[in-house]
Amino acid sequence: MNPTWVQHLIVLGTLLGVRYTSTDTAGPWCYDDPKCGPEAWAALGDCNSTRQSPINIVTPAAVRNPNLGPVCLTGYGDAGKLSSMKNTGKTVDVHLADGLRLSAQGLPATYTAKSFHLHWGQGEVRPGSEHFINHKGFSMELHIVHTKNDLSTTDALKDPEGIAVLAFFIQATAHARPSPSWKSFTQHLEKVALKGKKTNLDGSFSLRGLLDSVDLARYYRYQGSLTTPNCDEVVVWTVFPDPILVPPDVVAAFPSILNSTDSHAGPRLQNNYRPLQSLGNRQVQASAALRVAPSSSSTPRPAALIPLLISIAAITWQL
Ligand SMILES: *[C@@H]1O[C@H](CO)[C@@H](O)[C@H](O)[C@H]1NC(C)=O
Ligand SMILES: [Zn+2]
Repeated sequence: MNPTWVQHLIVLGTLLGVRYTSTDTAGPWCYDDPKCGPEAWAALGDCNSTRQSPINIVTPAAVRNPNLGPVCLTGYGDAGKLSSMKNTGKTVDVHLADGLRLSAQGLPATYTAKSFHLHWGQGEVRPGSEHFINHKGFSMELHIVHTKNDLSTTDALKDPEGIAVLAFFIQATAHARPSPSWKSFTQHLEKVALKGKKTNLDGSFSLRGLLDSVDLARYYRYQGSLTTPNCDEVVVWTVFPDPILVPPDVVAAFPSILNSTDSHAGPRLQNNYRPLQSLGNRQVQASAALRVAPSSSSTPRPAALIPLLISIAAITWQL
């Protein structure tokens, strides 16, 4: 080969290499392979730092802040704001049009919702929430991602409080009322079964519809990070402990329909949650509507009593 030609190839290769590293700063990461999974993330960005997410929230240790009133959500009932959804290979991401605003006491500014996505396990049998409450996980976790004062994501990552995430738990239960919003959402999943697929949404469900009857006054607040590389420590977390109850088929739909590659042969997109990170010297605050010591979650609710009754019946029967 002629030497100039070889030189051109080297220059081209270098340019491509530079372009690759500068556009994909988080590097290749994954959930399920020791080579690129959560243990290996330590080498990426802030992932090995001390203010990471998710965490286990120990409710008796949370400090009640009487100034943390209900979160105020504007525009979340507007189904037209859910413009499109995409399979990123790591989650299903719904793009939100402008106009959804979050404000609350304890937040330094008004935040604008940009997108929402979910984390899940393997259906009803394996929970896949990222945060835990008193060492208990839930079937799935919904994250609504907001930026401070409508900053671009790039600019928000430079501000220690640049991003606010609202986290909602989703729990599969056979006793849940059918939810038209979740049904509609899961009906769209087939269209984005493969990584890279995107579909426009049709206004058939809204974010408020998905949130159902969650009490927006009851939440925990702490300072943490993104739960995917580069794990930037720029997130004000608001975690609502009372789960949204959905029928089991809703929770089963995500890991059974979505693929983590662009092939129908799989592997399926499942267990896309980061393991718990240590709280370190951080403090979790409880909103005014939560009781510090025994919260209402320690009072058995009718649905929670059913497994207990079944166990008692089973024990009695064995005796
Ligand atoms: C992560 O942090 C720990 C404790 O500070 C340190 O021992 C370890 O070497 C770090 N790992 C990496 C990959 O930086
Ligand atoms: Zn998330």
